[in-house]
Amino acid sequence: MTILDGKATAETLKKEIAQTVQQWKKEGKKTPHLAAILVGCDGASETYVNSKERDCHEVGMQSTVIRLPDTTTEAELLQKVNDINRDADIDGLIVQLPLPKHINEQKIIEAIDPKKDVDGFHPLNVGRMVAGLPSYISATPDGIMELLARYHIETAGKHVVVIGRSNIVGRPVANLLSLKANPGNCTVTLCHSQTSNIKALCLQADIIIAALGKPEFLTADMVREGAVVIDVGITRVKAATKNGFRLAGDVNFNEVAPRCSYITPVPGGIGPMTRVSLLKNTLKAAAKEVFA
Ligand code: GUN
Repeated sequence: MTILDGKATAETLKKEIAQTVQQWKKEGKKTPHLAAILVGCDGASETYVNSKERDCHEVGMQSTVIRLPDTTTEAELLQKVNDINRDADIDGLIVQLPLPKHINEQKIIEAIDPKKDVDGFHPLNVGRMVAGLPSYISATPDGIMELLARYHIETAGKHVVVIGRSNIVGRPVANLLSLKANPGNCTVTLCHSQTSNIKALCLQADIIIAALGKPEFLTADMVREGAVVIDVGITRVKAATKNGFRLAGDVNFNEVAPRCSYITPVPGGIGPMTRVSLLKNTLKAAAKEVFA
């Protein structure tokens, strides 16, 4: 059994990105610039945005964080998005979700210029991804694909079971793995809360991607000997630790790992890969690689 070390792989990728940025600067090209809009003061969102800013600085990119009060109206936020769309110095824009309830998230996502949509949430990018065209792929699915690629895990002809149908993980990764590509060329089953025989389907899987957000959902009796298991879950559960919690994945790691050929840990698996994918997309945006 091999543990897929997302932390180390993400570090390698970050070094590669930093080298590219440094090279561009030497050549007199512009420094890639990511802008993030944060509305309100949600603790988790604040942490995410701070990490994104730190990641940018680590690889030599420019980062601007626009903090707006939770009383910001939808019209004011749309205006801010439009201002950034028109700002030639900013290559990529993310609006941290969730937004306050009085703001229509989909309206905001669709207001972002698809050329700057480094989250890959705009329907144009989603559609291009499904069609196998160049697009910004959202960070978690991209992180999963990159980790599979970096470990040269064979995917062609394999049966993948994805558990969870979210717009930002389950459905895009199911689509990506079904494409005629490498990684890809898989036969994909997408399971969700209404699937009646998840265990039987998982037992047929060569690769399982657990992305449902239920701590330790996937148990040893659901996993075939030799399967590849990718754990996307990360939930705080109460524990007798110093801070009173521990981070749990969607996989019961201790019992599932011995059955696997490859497995991701939590933390240190898909999480760090997700973070670095946003940097990859920002690099693509600065290079105008997606909408050439
Ligand atoms: N909130 C949780 N994850 C994400 C993400 O990947 N992008 C944005 N914009 N908001 C999020």
